[in-house]
Amino acid sequence: MMKSTVKASSDIALIKYWGKKDEVLRLPENGSISMILSGLDTVTTVEFNEKLTKDEVIIQGESEEGEAGRVIKHLDRIRVLAGKHIFAKVVSQNTFPKGTGLSSSGSGFAALTISATKAIGLEFNEKELSILARQGSGTACRCVCGGIVEWKDGETSEESYSETIYPSDYLDIRDVVAVVDEGKKLVSSTAGHATANTSPFYVVRLENIKNKIEKVRMVIKEKDFDELGALVESEALEFHSILLTSQPSMIAWYPGTVEVMLAVQAMRREGIKAYFTINTGFNVHVLTTPDFESEVNKRLNQLSLVIKTITAKIGGKPIEQNNHLF
Ligand code: DP6
Repeated sequence: MMKSTVKASSDIALIKYWGKKDEVLRLPENGSISMILSGLDTVTTVEFNEKLTKDEVIIQGESEEGEAGRVIKHLDRIRVLAGKHIFAKVVSQNTFPKGTGLSSSGSGFAALTISATKAIGLEFNEKELSILARQGSGTACRCVCGGIVEWKDGETSEESYSETIYPSDYLDIRDVVAVVDEGKKLVSSTAGHATANTSPFYVVRLENIKNKIEKVRMVIKEKDFDELGALVESEALEFHSILLTSQPSMIAWYPGTVEVMLAVQAMRREGIKAYFTINTGFNVHVLTTPDFESEVNKRLNQLSLVIKTITAKIGGKPIEQNNHLF
């Protein structure tokens, strides 16, 4: 049967991917490190069917024009690799709000890449899947892996893929995501990458990034949560300083985002282990340890601009499911 269903988790970048040296192939300017987030998942079913006269793409119950175009482009890559020109039906569901800076394109294109290659009969290993997923969305090349993941920038397409550097049970970190808005973010990451080098601080970032990646790898190895949290929070602020100083500038934060950032720093002054990081959206990932998870969760929910929280742990690799979405 030419049908496959895969569940993949989103991730949160500890070191951000920002800027591309090749926009078509999605080769990043710098390497990145992330952790996969079980609890922020996408489930996608793909069926290739000779009877279809065009591709059908349904995301969160809706056929969305813009998003569908990007999905169809990815299906085209897969059809070329398989040498089979058959249309597909794609149905995809997220367990979390998409387009709000929670990396739904990462889990989405990871689930799509694995289910579509399976459904069309291609047997790809993890490296091949990562290279292919990357061309759909950069973060997706990390989301085909599990645990703590590193994406090496690479000079060519064949060199630019991700690998697990630590399994999901190496460290127990909790990510309490403070949702401050469920609407779509104003600027897409894809558009933002293109303006990264207009910030005068971008060259400084690239000069220091290899060092920073090395430090993050080291503190993870040592399981030093406080050092890791401090590095991750300052990386997030550096990344946002690039967004703020790009042309046109990108102010991703909402009032609720700032409320959460200040609350996290206040919690730390009381001895609560909590550190924030934010992607291009307004929702905030708050990293903490199992001991502090319920306290952090309680306090975030008490904030006036927080709608709800979603809690995630470090997750594993994508998995194939028997229960299809259609
Ligand atoms: C800020 O992967 O969404 O979340 O490759 O154009 O799809 P495209 O961009 P995308 O960029 C994500 C950027 C980020 C940082 C990160 O997750 O590393």
